[in-house]
Amino acid sequence: MSKVDVLLGLQWGDEGKGKIVDVLTPNYDVIARFQGGPNAGHTLEFNGIKHVLHIIPSGIFHEDKLNVIGNGVLIEPNIFEKEVQALLEKNVDATKNLYISKKAHLILPSHRMLDAANEKAKGNNKIGSTLKGIGPAYTDKIARSGLRVGDIMEFDFKEKYELLKVQHLQTAHTLNFDVAAFRIDNMTLDEYEKRWLASLETLKKFHLINSEYFINHCLDKGQKVLAEGAQGSMLDIDFGSYPFVTSSSTITAGVCSGLGVAPSRIGRVMGISKAYCTRVGAGPFPTELFDETGRVLCEQGHEYGATTGRPRRCGWIDIPALRYACMLNGVTHLFVTKPDVMNNFDEIKMCTSYEINGKETDEIPFEFNEVEITPVLRSYEGWKQELTGITAYKDLPQNLLNYLDAMEKVTGVPVLAVSISPDRKDVLFK
Ligand code: GDP
Ligand code: IMO
Ligand code: MG
Repeated sequence: MSKVDVLLGLQWGDEGKGKIVDVLTPNYDVIARFQGGPNAGHTLEFNGIKHVLHIIPSGIFHEDKLNVIGNGVLIEPNIFEKEVQALLEKNVDATKNLYISKKAHLILPSHRMLDAANEKAKGNNKIGSTLKGIGPAYTDKIARSGLRVGDIMEFDFKEKYELLKVQHLQTAHTLNFDVAAFRIDNMTLDEYEKRWLASLETLKKFHLINSEYFINHCLDKGQKVLAEGAQGSMLDIDFGSYPFVTSSSTITAGVCSGLGVAPSRIGRVMGISKAYCTRVGAGPFPTELFDETGRVLCEQGHEYGATTGRPRRCGWIDIPALRYACMLNGVTHLFVTKPDVMNNFDEIKMCTSYEINGKETDEIPFEFNEVEITPVLRSYEGWKQELTGITAYKDLPQNLLNYLDAMEKVTGVPVLAVSISPDRKDVLFK
């Protein structure tokens, strides 16, 4: 009997999860997403191809491996259809090796409308949501009003759909939202709805399964399963910087509920962190840099959202946040990505603790959004060297090795590997 290994982000998302999952896939039989939905953007690069996945797991390019969209995930059928088509253009037929949980919830066009309506109503306090309908769809799930993938096969699906849509239109009305002016991909709600309904036919072509049985049977047979996280621990619904979070459980606990595996069946927990830090959308970010260094991180790191194209906010690595994430997830191994972005830096800083009201702490405060936090910074000498061409961890420049050693020391978690470019081949295992 084997266990589920987990790979998830330890920061505010975009740590490079897609790339690392793709690299790890040859070691596994099944790759499974357990939460999130089309708010995710996971980038893979190999053989000169760059590909961004949103709902489909990052193991899809390995045709001998199975991919599963678990019950904890949200599916927007039209976005899913586009993703399937983009893969077909690269000669990948996902119908063959992608299974979908019948219990995964659907994002309706009217959920996307409500996402926009909620953001508008929040005004200056808006979350900076990706506007994919994540919050409203998970709200309906918890309120026991949602529609699930398995429902599309039922004779009364359209009836249930209409009922839910009417509720959403009423909510939009109470929020004074201008439904007539609302657009998705330049389409009115009615126009988009036609597409959305048509794309259900694509969804029906897939193996729709009870994924909890499937995954547990795979484990019983000794097969190896990797759970792929979306977003990051600091965006978790419970432990992130609430309310500036996403609406799912992004941590290891989410694997149990999002795939239907027992806690005793969790194996390795691999966490990913960039060598610095980014965040997209609103909310606290104590180490954010508003200066030239921040701008260089953004430009050198191509820090623009893979889903929305928005520029990501950039700053130094935040160790209190990273330690918090390691604690919440039970991280057993660390992946560090993108140190190459800082190749030209004379000096690299690490925030080791926070100063709040004159007191030093390494705990994330409850009042994270309100208090003024001054990061306590420790300096490291830059390595001032290109990393391209380096093929062994031990051959990395000494100053980078010192920085990685420091990351191990402050988190108490060993580094398993470091990634030094967007390409699949540039992951150096320690
Ligand atoms: P994810 O959401 O965690 O899968 O990450 P994203 O794909 O949203 O963002 C990570 C970005 O960094 C993508 O553009 C990747 O191609 C790129 N990337 C990943 N690893 C590295 C690395 O080690 N170095 C550099 N320079 N870029 C990387
Ligand atoms: P991946 O998987 C980075 C952020 C949004 C917003 C907040 C809530 O690529 O790492 P939502 O649309 O979920 O209601 O938005 O969460 N966010 C992400 N930031 N990477 C992501 O996914 C994200 N998914 C959501 O920017 O601040
Ligand atoms: Mg991303």
